[in-house]
Amino acid sequence: MAVTLERATVRVPATVANLGAGFDVLGAAVGLHAEITLEPADGPQVSVAGADVPQDDSNLIYRSAVVAAEMLGYRGAFALRATSPIPQRSGLGSSAAAIVGGVVAATRLLGGSPEPDRLLALAAEIEGHPDNVAAALFGGVVVVARDEGGFRWVKVTPALPLAVALAVPALEVETDRARRLLPAQVAREDAVFNLGQVALLVAALGQGRGDLLRGALGDRLHQPYRAALVPGFERVVAAAVEAGAYGAVLSGSGPTVAALAAPEVAAAAGEAMQDAFRRAGVGSRVIVTAVETRGALDEPRGA
Ligand code: HSE
Repeated sequence: MAVTLERATVRVPATVANLGAGFDVLGAAVGLHAEITLEPADGPQVSVAGADVPQDDSNLIYRSAVVAAEMLGYRGAFALRATSPIPQRSGLGSSAAAIVGGVVAATRLLGGSPEPDRLLALAAEIEGHPDNVAAALFGGVVVVARDEGGFRWVKVTPALPLAVALAVPALEVETDRARRLLPAQVAREDAVFNLGQVALLVAALGQGRGDLLRGALGDRLHQPYRAALVPGFERVVAAAVEAGAYGAVLSGSGPTVAALAAPEVAAAAGEAMQDAFRRAGVGSRVIVTAVETRGALDEPRGA
């Protein structure tokens, strides 16, 4: 396969994976973006600003671009330039954004048009789980489920104005470590609780039912085990609710806490979460944003 464009640029959103009870199956794209530009080159060139990542061909964006290029039968090198304001090891999908950015940029540069399902399978294979990469690829809130036939996914566009306040504590959590904290088996009542919550959550978003959303953001499959990594977690969630948010959840494997809120109360929810983190002895910064309905695949093609 030959290069068909001079360069390809991709904007990839950050993501809140494990949305509520949707452990490994529900993710939301949010309005914080990595920008990735890829050009053909004689040898690997890597320049990534804003992130403490390798600046050579071991870079995750670069490696992901190479995997996608090889899938399309191309074995040349690339010049990669990228900026990413997505905090690393914060539960906001920085590695998923890197993988999706590399895969989509290489695909566009090479003029390939693989099925979205194939891109999802490739990105999920590199990442190890599908919820971040699905939301980064498709935008909005994405349900992604695996069965014998592969991944099935559907994008749910919230039918109500939905802001997202992110409280990003000055802590880092490695996803692998946070996964090892999870039990291999769970009690049936906890599984049933999550089934009810995740079904309510998807219905509440799809129907724009803020009243349902208030009671649909609980989780018993991962948050109780991972809360130990996030000082003050329960109080931060409670503070967001007291400030008027629909609810708050651990973003990905943490430590960021994401509050879903009506736009007019989102800033207050963010401040309340920051205050609760401060009381727990943890500094944090707040990002008030919204669900991003556009994913990496929706952005215009490069020049
Ligand atoms: N679903 C993944 C996990 C997301 O919880 O491990 C990690 O960001």
